[in-house]
Amino acid sequence: MAFQESTVPDVYQANFEPTAYLDYFKLGQNPLSDEFLHFLLKHYNATFKSAGGLKGKLLIDIGSGPTIYQLLSACESFEEIIATDYTDKNRLELEKWLKKMPGAFDWSPVVKYVCELEGNRDKWTEKEERLRRTVRQVLKCDILKERPLEPAVLPPADCLISSLCLEAACPTLGACRAALRHLRTLLRPRGHLVLSGGFETTFYMVGDKRFSALPLEEKFLLEALQETGFTIEKLEKAQRPAEGSDDRSDYTGMFFLVARRRD
Ligand SMILES: C[S@@+](CC[C@H](N)C(=O)[O-])C[C@H]1O[C@@H](n2cnc3c(N)ncnc32)[C@H](O)[C@@H]1O
Repeated sequence: MAFQESTVPDVYQANFEPTAYLDYFKLGQNPLSDEFLHFLLKHYNATFKSAGGLKGKLLIDIGSGPTIYQLLSACESFEEIIATDYTDKNRLELEKWLKKMPGAFDWSPVVKYVCELEGNRDKWTEKEERLRRTVRQVLKCDILKERPLEPAVLPPADCLISSLCLEAACPTLGACRAALRHLRTLLRPRGHLVLSGGFETTFYMVGDKRFSALPLEEKFLLEALQETGFTIEKLEKAQRPAEGSDDRSDYTGMFFLVARRRD
């Protein structure tokens, strides 16, 4: 089969099919993707919902794609969330869920899992409503641009989340460092960046389309964050489990980190 492959963002606009990507989030279908999602949800929960967790007024999610799992814990401790993505189709898919439109993805198994982590399994419909209320806008975003949200003008955020986006969007390590610098401009001094993704990923599949990824290593990430004005406060990692198979991507591990803008 001939795969289309590129790292330039327009490939996303043309080829990234949100409904195919959402297959990764159907719990119970593949133990490896379940494990990845559980890893992320557990750490979002610990970061936003535990005693002393992050809280504030504005949180911006960078490169949201068509997904909301990354916002389920944060929506309890931030007053406003702005979701963003590069592609029109992803932003529409998000709006579909936010506005309860027909054909929207069913996130309820994931929402129930998060409510269970929070000790409130019965409250999942309330959490969905809370998230819908808290996400105020879905904006266009390009992290390769110096001002990723232009032309929108927003107050500096208290917190940024970005999951599985840097390695998808950045064609080189230099571009990745630049993207971190661009993200920093969206954050208030001492604000938090919550970053997660896969280590050493070279590709991932979305349906039958193959997307190149930038292989990220721990050493690079920590140095790049340091150089671009962040202090790392927490780094959680896990290896890709040896058992089970998923040939849709070749990541070797997962990371979840919290960094703070220095000034
Ligand atoms: C692997 S998906 C991750 C989606 C979601 N954050 C998640 O955790 O599942 C990568 C996302 O990066 C977005 N993307 C690609 N190039 C981008 C760019 N230059 N700026 C911002 N986002 C970009 C894609 O549209 C896609 O939604």
